[in-house]
Parts: sequence; structure tokens; C-alpha cells
Amino acid sequence: MSSSHRSVLIVGCGYRGRRLAQRLIAMGHTVRGLSRKEANLPKLKALGIEPRLGDVLDPHSLRGIGTGIDTVYHLMGSMQGSPEQLEQLHIKGTRNLLSALEGVSLKRYVYESSTAVYGQTDGEWLDEDAPRDPASAMGKLRVAVENLLMEAHRLSSLPVVIFRPASIYRPQGVINEKIASGTYRLTWDPDKVMNRIYIDDFLELLALALEKGRVGEAYNLSDDEPQRGGDYVNAIADLMGVAHPPIDFKAPADACAELVKQSNKRVRNAKVKRDFGYTLKFPTYREGLAESARVKWIEPEI
Ligand SMILES: NC(=O)c1ccc[n+]([C@@H]2O[C@H](COP(=O)([O-])OP(=O)(O)OC[C@H]3O[C@@H](n4cnc5c(N)ncnc54)[C@H](OP(=O)(O)O)[C@@H]3O)[C@@H](O)[C@H]2O)c1
Repeated sequence: MSSSHRSVLIVGCGYRGRRLAQRLIAMGHTVRGLSRKEANLPKLKALGIEPRLGDVLDPHSLRGIGTGIDTVYHLMGSMQGSPEQLEQLHIKGTRNLLSALEGVSLKRYVYESSTAVYGQTDGEWLDEDAPRDPASAMGKLRVAVENLLMEAHRLSSLPVVIFRPASIYRPQGVINEKIASGTYRLTWDPDKVMNRIYIDDFLELLALALEKGRVGEAYNLSDDEPQRGGDYVNAIADLMGVAHPPIDFKAPADACAELVKQSNKRVRNAKVKRDFGYTLKFPTYREGLAESARVKWIEPEI
């Protein structure tokens, strides 16, 4: 892909942010990465990222964060914490970030939202115009942040592009490790329909957003084939040559499983394919899982 040089700020340089940074740097772009933890800064520096200490909940720490920046990726988030803490992080954190970026001339502000914004539970097909009325706390927060950013787009021309990724799956996810060790329990109805996108397609689309996509628009990021959640889990077990995980509705459910319980929908991806001119490298979970098995369910530590 050819694109002019960009100076990128990644807010949320965790698993996905660091891998996105690697791609952008390989494309010749400059990347600054924010972290709250001093101990993380050498790791970012070793990847060629300009490290920057800061916390979106501390406005003073964000001073000057946008100096020289023309593109922002807003990936920060957490699945942990009380409802109040998560609200602070998403709502107050977004407001603080926007204030810190006032006066910065941006070409793109890419926000990683989620398909959790859709509350539909009857397995229906939906596109980006479907009602956003989620029951889950995470879905509600994502809707609120999308609304804040769209307001900034209308009032101050923030060049926002919103991505709504489905469940991002990858070789070394926690669920894979539990399936391999025989400790995974299906705490949700295996017939529920789920949507997924493989990590490589997700990162590729994020990188393409430097140039592609229309500002003020939201894009679902999902592969071509919504699937029964149980089929996906059993396919992993088959590839690993281990037993299918048992169903146990009483077993403790993590934050992701709680989200799955509140969901049952089929997400369309036609808009992102059209506007980004993108062909999925992993069009269904079968290709993505085959790739995960090929790399032996291991990802390089970065
Ligand atoms: N669609 C999907 O399948 C999917 C998959 C995974 C995650 N997610 C979403 O991504 C979010 C985080 O995922 P994760 O738990 O896996 O963590 P992660 O990838 O490690 O990323 C979390 C990032 O957010 C940053 N962050 C958190 N609080 C911050 C703050 N106050 N100020 C600045 N940066 C802050 C962290 O930075 P430092 O710790 O370096 O400060 C970290 O880089 C969640 O909201 C989750 O919904 C979605």
C-alpha cells in the first residue's frame, strides 16, 4: 500500500496497539505510543515506537501529546474494573483525550468500538444502520463514546472513522490455552450465533484506515460467516486433537463470556469491503483457525 508519511499516536499500546504500530512503522510511518506504566516504555522503544508516559484519566499527563501528530488510533480500553471505573475510562478518558488534542490538525481519528453496540439477540442479520440499543454495560459505553466522537465530528470536524470489530481471534488467546488444557467450559448456549475476525485482517484494516474509509462513518469488522459459538470452540478442540469442551452453565464466566451471553446476531461486512476495497485473508473461522494451528497456537512475544 502506498501512502504519504504519517505521524501516528496510538492510545492503548497493548496487544493490538503494539502489533498495529509494528505494521505502521514497517510502512514507513512514525508512531508515538501512550502507556500509563513506566515499565512499558522500554518495550515500546524497542519496537521503534516513541514512548510517551500518560494516563487518559490525568489531563496533565496528556499535555502536548498531539504535538506533530496527524493521526490517532483510540484503542484504549479494559475488560476489568468496576462499572464506575470503566465509565471513567471510556467517557472521561475520551473527553480528556479530545481536549488534549484540541488545535491539533488531524487527518484521521480511528476509534475501536465493538459489535457490542448492537443488542440484537434473535440471530438477525444487521448492518451499520441497525439500532444501537445494547443490554450490556460494555455495549452502552461503546455507544456513548461513539456518540461523543460523532458529536466532535459534527461540531469540530473531527475526522473520525469508527470500527466495530466482532470478536477478534488469534493463535494464542486465553480460550485456546484453556481448550488445550481441558479446562475450558462453555458457559453459554452453544447455538448462539457469533461473529469473528482474525487478528491479521483486523490489523490490516486498521492500517488501511490511514487512507481508506469515509470520515463520520462506522464500519463493522467481521468475517463472512457468522457461526454457532459451539462449532467454533469444537473446531479448535478438533485441530488440537483434544476433547470438545463440556457445557457447564454454572461455571464462572469471564467478561468476554458475559458479553457472549448477551448476544446473538449476524453482522454484515459489506460496507468495509466496499469502502476499503478489501478482500479478507481469513474469510471464515476455518481459515483463521487453520492458520493458528499452522503457527502451533503461538504468537511472537512483542
Ligand atoms: N473485539 C474484540 O474481540 C476485543 C478483543 C480484545 C479486547 N477488546 C477490547 O479492547 C479493550 C482492551 O483490551 P485488553 O484488555 O485486551 O487490553 P490490551 O489489548 O492490553 O489494551 C488495553 C490498552 O488500554 C490502555 N489503557 C487502559 N487504561 C488506560 C488509561 N487510563 N490511559 C491510557 N491508556 C489506558 C492500556 O495501556 P497501558 O496498560 O499500557 O497503560 C493498554 O494498552 C477492551 O475494551 C476490550 O473490549 C476487544
